[in-house]
Amino acid sequence: MTSQKDESIPTHDRQSAVETARSEISALSAQIATANRAYHTDDAPEITDAQYDRLKQRLLALEAEFPELKTPDSPSQQVGAPLGEGFGKITHEIRMLSLGNAFSDEDVTDFDERVRSYLGVPSDVIAFTAEPKIDGLSLSLRYENGRLIHAATRGDGETGENVTENARTIADIPWEISGAPEVLEVRGEVYMSHADFAALNLRQVEKNEKPFANPRNAAAGSLRQLDAGVTAARPLKFFAYAWGALSTPLAQTQFLAIERLREFGFSTNPLTKLCETPQQLISHYHDIEQQRAKLGYDIDGVVYKVNDLALQKRLGFRSTTPRWAIAHKFPAELAWTRLEKIEIQVGRTGALSPVARLTPVTVGGVVVSNATLHNEDYIAGRDSKGEQIREGRDIREGDWVQVYRAGDVIPKIKDVDPTKRGDDSAAFRFPQTCPECGSDAIREEGDAVRRCSGGLICPAQAVEKLKHFVSRGAFDIEGLGAKQVETFYKDGWIREPADIFTLRARYGAGLQQLKNREGWGPKSAENLFKAIDERRNISLARVIFALGLRHVGEASAALLANHYGSWSAFESAMTHARLGEGAGWEDLLAVDGIGAVLATSVITAFHQENERASIDRLIAELNVQDAKRRMPTGSPVEGLTVVFTGTLEKMTRAEAKSRAEALGAKVAGSVSAKTDILIAGPGAGSKATKAADLGVKVIDEDAWLALVEGA
Ligand code: IVH
Repeated sequence: MTSQKDESIPTHDRQSAVETARSEISALSAQIATANRAYHTDDAPEITDAQYDRLKQRLLALEAEFPELKTPDSPSQQVGAPLGEGFGKITHEIRMLSLGNAFSDEDVTDFDERVRSYLGVPSDVIAFTAEPKIDGLSLSLRYENGRLIHAATRGDGETGENVTENARTIADIPWEISGAPEVLEVRGEVYMSHADFAALNLRQVEKNEKPFANPRNAAAGSLRQLDAGVTAARPLKFFAYAWGALSTPLAQTQFLAIERLREFGFSTNPLTKLCETPQQLISHYHDIEQQRAKLGYDIDGVVYKVNDLALQKRLGFRSTTPRWAIAHKFPAELAWTRLEKIEIQVGRTGALSPVARLTPVTVGGVVVSNATLHNEDYIAGRDSKGEQIREGRDIREGDWVQVYRAGDVIPKIKDVDPTKRGDDSAAFRFPQTCPECGSDAIREEGDAVRRCSGGLICPAQAVEKLKHFVSRGAFDIEGLGAKQVETFYKDGWIREPADIFTLRARYGAGLQQLKNREGWGPKSAENLFKAIDERRNISLARVIFALGLRHVGEASAALLANHYGSWSAFESAMTHARLGEGAGWEDLLAVDGIGAVLATSVITAFHQENERASIDRLIAELNVQDAKRRMPTGSPVEGLTVVFTGTLEKMTRAEAKSRAEALGAKVAGSVSAKTDILIAGPGAGSKATKAADLGVKVIDEDAWLALVEGA
């Protein structure tokens, strides 16, 4: 059978093609059914996985080409997520992280220096691998005893979607591998080549369907199809570049580990190179950049990874990125367009953010119609220190502006062309009152941002707070996204987060209100209530992040959660803490990564009557789970609070700290009655004296290493 498109086949030929396909499908279905029975019921497989794989792929491809031949009882319909129910979830045994970025040569040399200084080897040569950063979507494949068990998207890094059936249709992904560790999670990027993307878009247009904006979207849209038959008909590819859980190490270096993945049958990127200096990294970066247009698939930078896996392990991770790797991004693409209007959005903390509405323009394959303008100084041509940017050129409505996209973030404006201004052009006047509620918009000393002073009376702040509350890193309630929250707010059903959890009690009985709404019925309402109820059990870190307190992002929420452990401990500490002084304040600042600005913001929120009452109403609806301490069981320092002081000779302070934390200890910055151990190196001063006064155990670095050795 040819892969000709249906439309181009004359009717009688098409008819005979259908007939041939029908008999082939029926033969395949029978073979697959027999194989399934032999494998699952009789425990006596008659064909190899690879043969099974080929039968299944052929069936999926035929059904994609002749959808009219697909029957509900086809073997293609009997596995994976049932249609219409969405994907199942898979929790990654090891989190899937993202990468920090480098944009300049200097960022690369800084990265190399950071690595050496963290390891305490300032003049050692550290080798790195350098390879293209593929612009697709990451996927984790779990193999047990050489068989593909499941495939999961990255999701939020902790939990992804189960796309196993779809992944099985990708030719680069083997169903079976030999010689691999018992447990092996292969990670890599699913992508679509330029040629396949162009052909797919042609088919989309022919079918009167919307073409994809770029290969990345096409790859993502194709992988996340509930019908694996559709995925099978979309030519996706996969490069392996990393791994997750492993029962035995693959190799001692990154380079050799990737080599092993290649031996197992995975595609690995041929442009991967071993480099010994930042200069070699930068030179390979330029080589790859030169070849970029000819590669036939999209890349958006070059990834550098410390080659020695023992060093990678010592370097470990920050909250969401490894210390041992970085992505050196290619310069952003630029485009000129017209700025039609400057609009002011009010955020959840009251910040007035100017947004440029643009005449739509394509930048790097994506149509851009909005860009951030940051704040009023940026519009006026000044940075936060009052120094000129764009040589002082201001930005006005009607201007021609140059737009760029850096990574996946919101587009920005790089420059403006004042020579194209008309006579009626006038400097933009930044509002002094909130455009949403009319309250004064105040700019505090030293703050680049003007803020609405309306607090919870400002509808924009309330809605944005709610949107943040239901966002992905926060409560992430299925079926309750930003749009629904906005409508529910407008209708007066939800005013604050606690209201979400009383929705059923208030509106559940008759469901009348929801029934009348477009797209809502008793079933969707019931689903929503169920999704809401499921979220009553929620982690402490998510709750803290969801509160939407100023300066508290996901990473700092996790720090707070780990430090206080439970909602009651956190709440009581914040209630009793005073700004700038006292034990509560000291304790909060002792958390590494929490500074005075964040501490002030959190304590202030807990002391504002309205805000506090709103928090209490929310907590009353929830069952907040205590922070899980991720720690190896049986570590002798688990749960202890330790302080390092003086000079450490065998490791840097940063390494000592992250190792202690990885073992489940809390590392504090100062000695108090709560300290369990003080690790004192040479030159230890007042902390050692204080520890002695308080009767805290004091040990030296060697004793500490002996204590944690092997843990
Ligand atoms: S390594 C622990 N290598 O980039 C870090 N990532 O911005 C593991 N990506 O989520 C990732 N090409 O989806 C790595 N050669 C490459 C990559 C690559 C593309 C993606 C990946 C990751 C994202 C981070």
